[in-house]
Amino acid sequence: MKTRPIGIFDSGVGGLTVVKSLLARLPGESFIYYGDTAHVPYGSKSREELFKYANDIVSFLLSREVKIIVVACGTHSSVTLPEIEKTCPVPLLGVVKPGARAAAQATRNGKIGVIATQATVNSCSYSLSINAIEPEHEIFSAACARFVPLVEAGILDGKETRQAVEEYIAPLLQRKIDTLVMGCTHYPFLAPVISDISGEGVTLVDPATQTIEELIGILKQNDILNDNEACGTREFYVSGNEESFYRVGRLLLGDVIQKVDRIELD
Ligand code: DGL
Repeated sequence: MKTRPIGIFDSGVGGLTVVKSLLARLPGESFIYYGDTAHVPYGSKSREELFKYANDIVSFLLSREVKIIVVACGTHSSVTLPEIEKTCPVPLLGVVKPGARAAAQATRNGKIGVIATQATVNSCSYSLSINAIEPEHEIFSAACARFVPLVEAGILDGKETRQAVEEYIAPLLQRKIDTLVMGCTHYPFLAPVISDISGEGVTLVDPATQTIEELIGILKQNDILNDNEACGTREFYVSGNEESFYRVGRLLLGDVIQKVDRIELD
């Protein structure tokens, strides 16, 4: 059981921010990553569509005998995870609750900005999770529809990216936030620009860091942490174009991505 892979999924390359943290903390773990690139962006999809995608991907990962699934997607962590975890035979861990815990701890003035997809903002998942920890904290959210296509195209800086960041973040800065949660897993790849524009007084929260700390806790609790010294195996699958995921994925994560295979689940 300990040597079984961890399942990880997202709509595309966004979940690689979670893989980055995983590799830094648990290099011995094997994992299977599924990027549902045929259906990116998730942020504008209906609940029905999101449930269909999540069910298909979870079934695929279970067929590969994963020991746990990390929902490396803010949208699915907000919309489908609370339902799917009720029947899933292995533990499911999302990014929203860990991200909320990190943000609630990081703020000094109690004003927190959350940038995420439209579906995540509509679900109020971050506000509810942060206020469950600290009811007095004020949360200001913004949906940033242009970020995911930019990251999927590997456009992490430049005029277009800067303009988009400025536009989305300005109203949050006006609210005097001191903490900003990058509530979609694609966004930490834009962190240098986001941090440049939001300034030194704003602490950026990448939920991936706390998610991996909580993953370690769950693996230990269930006695399924892989204690092998050797490096784990890493498999990458997509539902769409494998070449573009390979190219942008390697730009974001480096040569950890050796090969990408296409598997359609429909
Ligand atoms: N990276 C995902 C998230 O965290 C999905 C973004 C999208 O495809 O719209 O929400």
